[in-house]
Amino acid sequence: MLSNLKPQDPDKILALMGEFKADTRQGKIDLGVGVYKDATGHTPIMRAVKAAEKRLQENETSKSYTVLVGEPAYRDAMAKMILGDLYAPERIATLATVGGTGALRQGFELARMASPDMRVFYSNPTWPNHTSILKWMGVETVPYRYFDDATRGVDFEGMKADLAQAKKGDVILLHGCCHNPTGANLTVAQWNEVADIVERTGATPMIDLAYQGFGDGLEEDAEGTRIIVKRIPEVLIAASCSKNFGIYRERSGILLALTSDPAARDLAQGAMAFLNRQTYSFPPDHGARIVTTILTDDALRADWKAELEEVRGGMLRLRANLASELRTLSGSNRFDFIEEHRGMFSRLGATPEQVKKIKDEFAIYLVGDSRLNIAGLNDESVPILARAIIDAGV
Ligand code: LMR
Repeated sequence: MLSNLKPQDPDKILALMGEFKADTRQGKIDLGVGVYKDATGHTPIMRAVKAAEKRLQENETSKSYTVLVGEPAYRDAMAKMILGDLYAPERIATLATVGGTGALRQGFELARMASPDMRVFYSNPTWPNHTSILKWMGVETVPYRYFDDATRGVDFEGMKADLAQAKKGDVILLHGCCHNPTGANLTVAQWNEVADIVERTGATPMIDLAYQGFGDGLEEDAEGTRIIVKRIPEVLIAASCSKNFGIYRERSGILLALTSDPAARDLAQGAMAFLNRQTYSFPPDHGARIVTTILTDDALRADWKAELEEVRGGMLRLRANLASELRTLSGSNRFDFIEEHRGMFSRLGATPEQVKKIKDEFAIYLVGDSRLNIAGLNDESVPILARAIIDAGV
């Protein structure tokens, strides 16, 4: 039976991780997978995470099953962090999931249970796993214009025109902040316009919020999501703790379903519990418990926020340095978009041949679409990358 299986195309980002590991060249630089690294190339455990883990180790008395939809304290703390003053438990169903990817998958499943013929509108480009999961689920997908190759900013007119084609029963997938893979984001005014269009179409927005705190700040990065939540009665939000808590391998995520009334909330909550039971039963708890410990303790929360700000500030500084280096080397300001982009990523706009040249000749790994992970850089590698970009003819 198993010999009937067909070979699967490897995920491009994860395959690049493997390629980088196997590269024996000294001084190789990994700007591929979206993992934060400090100036020494290490992905540290955040101070508050370490402290919370110590506390858990001392105080936890049981490893028995938790709740099928995840601990209420975790779901409340996360929903409050994402929604701020808009947090209204009577309207929200919540589900602890296996990372942000689990939240996306359960969100797509939930939407399909409610709307079996749904189409999912996704930004072109988007995180490759969005479309890969939807394809595997057999869901029809519709790209909407997003990135303007000429300006390296958002093609907002194109986006609006394409989103207007959605209808009731469809899902519009939006990146809440720090767009992956481009780094180009909507302004507050544009989020309001997107809310207008979503409202007119009657489609259901689903927001992927994987990088809250990595762009303009913890509150600022939730602003687009909150604009949508304020205006639209039904919204799905898939969030991740991998990046902002740096607990990648603990696989902690959450799905929020905002509904129009308590009866719909109860239906959604029941369906979400069912989905967890059908896939992995109880969600992982350790990472969720770390997050809860941090978010519900004033001192730990303050320290976590301070460290998150250090991480964010470091990425902004690297962006400024890279843009400045490229300004000097190119004698132009055509790379200034790197400084304007936000989050972990920027799309350079290099061709696949140029990306290959940068890898082959300089041992610098970018994703094939020329996405670079800013957090993979440090003061030494910024000039090396700038030189490689210019030499490759970008
Ligand atoms: C990325 O885009 O690099 C991250 O979200 C990691 C992943 O799972 O692809």
